[in-house]
Amino acid sequence: MRKLLLTALLCVPSALWAASADIDWQMPVQPDLENLPSLQNGMRLYVNYCLGCHALGYQRYERTADDLGIPHDVALDNLVFTGQKIGELMSNAMSLDMGKKWFGAAPPDLTMITRYKSPEYVYNYLKTFYVDDNRPFGVNNKAFPNVGMPNVLADLQGIQREACVQKPKIAANGGEMRDPLDPSKTITEEKCGELVVDEGTGLYDAEQFDAAVYDLTNFLYYTGEPSRLERHRIGIYVLLFLVFLGCFTYLLNREYWKDVH
Ligand code: HEC
Repeated sequence: MRKLLLTALLCVPSALWAASADIDWQMPVQPDLENLPSLQNGMRLYVNYCLGCHALGYQRYERTADDLGIPHDVALDNLVFTGQKIGELMSNAMSLDMGKKWFGAAPPDLTMITRYKSPEYVYNYLKTFYVDDNRPFGVNNKAFPNVGMPNVLADLQGIQREACVQKPKIAANGGEMRDPLDPSKTITEEKCGELVVDEGTGLYDAEQFDAAVYDLTNFLYYTGEPSRLERHRIGIYVLLFLVFLGCFTYLLNREYWKDVH
């Protein structure tokens, strides 16, 4: 009985590992809240490609536009497609029941997704949709196997599918394996299940698509805690004030002790 329990316990981490081992997680750059053009582009992509299904129920257009440096009239003309007012929440018309009926699972509210999961998860999730004819929408996902969401960014990314490709063999030390007779050559091996985009099928090239997904992730990082942006700005003034105060305190201290010594 004890042995059985031990085996079961040992299996749990390996099963988790197996579930996540299928994907090379990548996140090239950290979220950057100072990068307003990236956040603005993220918001533009979000309202065009995501908001129809995923509400941002804790986020108002007005606050978002203010934080991201977008004038209200520009936001109303270009980013609000629901006929709502600038002060309203970024909601949509899809009810939970309808979402569940159409997709098998209701599209969740994404305001907090980068905190609930992580920015890395969102970035990799959006990049790893691939063709799978066994799924209802003809696509599957590496980060979320058997996901109910269609590949909404396919027109930007192009058609991505699983393929077998030659990749450098990785040595035990983590580096690429080299040919012992000719070290300038790397030893490659065939790896299947790698994701490859059919050339010329997307509006963006690989680099542009990565940048777009980064901007979306950055925007969702912002919605996870909008006041973080403000906090960073205020933080600088607080530090400057403390330095300023520090100088005067030091001078005052010198003044007090002048007569003692
Ligand atoms: C046509 C509707 C639809 C659109 C448009 C859509 N999604 Fe989804 N999305 C879904 C559904 C449905 C699910 C739930 C899938 C499931 O649970 O199987 C989902 C799940 C997700 C998840 C995973 C949540 C989790 O718990 O892991 C993320 C992240 C996500 N969507 C991001 C986006 C982003 C970003 C966009 C815009 C680029 C977008 N979605 C556009 C329908 C949509």
